[in-house]
Amino acid sequence: MEPEFWHERWAKNEIGFHLKDVNPFLLKHWSALQSSSSDSVFVPLCGKSVDLIWLSKQCASVVGIELNQQAVEAFFSEHHLNPEITQSEHLTLYQAGNITLYCGDIFKLEKRAVENCSLIYDRASLVAFPSEMRRLYSAKLDELFNTPHKRLLIAFDYDQQLMNGPPFAVSPEEVDTLFGQDKQITHLETASVLEQNKRFKERGITALLEHVFIVEKR
Ligand SMILES: C[S@@+](CC[C@H](N)C(=O)[O-])C[C@H]1O[C@@H](n2cnc3c(N)ncnc32)[C@H](O)[C@@H]1O
Repeated sequence: MEPEFWHERWAKNEIGFHLKDVNPFLLKHWSALQSSSSDSVFVPLCGKSVDLIWLSKQCASVVGIELNQQAVEAFFSEHHLNPEITQSEHLTLYQAGNITLYCGDIFKLEKRAVENCSLIYDRASLVAFPSEMRRLYSAKLDELFNTPHKRLLIAFDYDQQLMNGPPFAVSPEEVDTLFGQDKQITHLETASVLEQNKRFKERGITALLEHVFIVEKR
């Protein structure tokens, strides 16, 4: 999607993807990553997710990136955090406690920003991109993480003929194609979630799944 699409969503507060509570799949499956409190986690396309706060209590540090400045600033103000702000060429860095959020395009993020991270938490991020962009996004994450790491991936899946994304549908087969070459994929769960996501019913779909995976590079 073009940046304007997302800026408009935030400006109009059309952010149905934002959850007021910590994501239930994160709570249920985090332990499967077998992480330790000295690990740091990268959260691509983080929005103003409350998951960042939860993760900051499990991990040594949290590094996120989000395109929209209003979202980044709302995150800090809603959690009564007062970040230090540093401007660089392409990105603005906001830092409070052990949470660092970059504001800008993930495709501009440099490897050194995530060099301490060995975990990735992807919820509604891969599915935010249309098909060709998902390939580029996955290649960008490979560029940022060429060392061993583990990713908790939560992806929507539905009949793409019935609704336009975002969120776009991502099947287990696509996860295999995107990551299966050099990573081990563990499919943890598939849940039927249309009832909890009624806004998608109005957009025409009759079934909605959410898949949870661990994608690990050893
Ligand atoms: C579907 S939302 C998911 C947000 C978050 N992961 C959550 O669970 O609430 C996708 C987010 O990615 C941001 N985004 C889209 N394209 C981006 C890009 N190229 N770089 C950084 N952020 C981007 C959007 O502004 C939006 O907030």
